[in-house]
Amino acid sequence: MVCLGNICRSPLAEEIFREKTKELGIDVEVDSAGTANYHIGSAPDKRMIDTAKNRGYNISRLRARQLKPTDFEYFDFIFAMDSNNYLDILKLAKNVDQSAKVYQFQDFANVSEPDYVPDPYYGAQADFDYTFQVVENSAERIAKKIKGEKRND
Ligand code: 4NP
Repeated sequence: MVCLGNICRSPLAEEIFREKTKELGIDVEVDSAGTANYHIGSAPDKRMIDTAKNRGYNISRLRARQLKPTDFEYFDFIFAMDSNNYLDILKLAKNVDQSAKVYQFQDFANVSEPDYVPDPYYGAQADFDYTFQVVENSAERIAKKIKGEKRND
C-alpha cells in the first residue's frame, strides 16, 4: 500500500487490508510505504491513529518508510492511493514485469466514486472519517477479489 508520506492513507490501508484478509483466511504479507522521504521512521499521523482506533484498528505501532527498488521484486501487488502516487511509483519500476504489479487501489477495488483515496493531511476530522470509509470499503473488496483469484491456485 503506497501513498505520499506513509503516515495517513497507506498505513491505514495496510492494517485494514491485513485484518480483512485475515478474516477471509487469506495468507498474505502486507506492508506500506511512501513515495516521499519526509516522514521516514515516523508513526502515523495522530489524527489517523485516533480515527482508526475509534473503528477498531490499531495502527500506532506502524512506522513510515520510503518505497524501495526491492519492493518491486518482493511484492506481487503494489497499490497506489492516488494517481500522483501511481505515476511516481511507475517511474521507479525497472521493467514491464515490475510496472505490471502497480495498480490504483480504487481501480483494483472497482470503485469509481471516488476514483482515488483522498489525502486527509490538510483536512479536518470529517476528511479523516471519509478517507477511513473509502479505505475500509475498498480493502474489503480487494480482499474478496484476491480470495476469488486464489481459489484457482
Ligand atoms: P499520506 O498523507 O500521503 O496519506 O501519508 C500525507 C502526509 C504528509 C504529507 C502529505 C500527505 N506532507 O506533505 O508532509
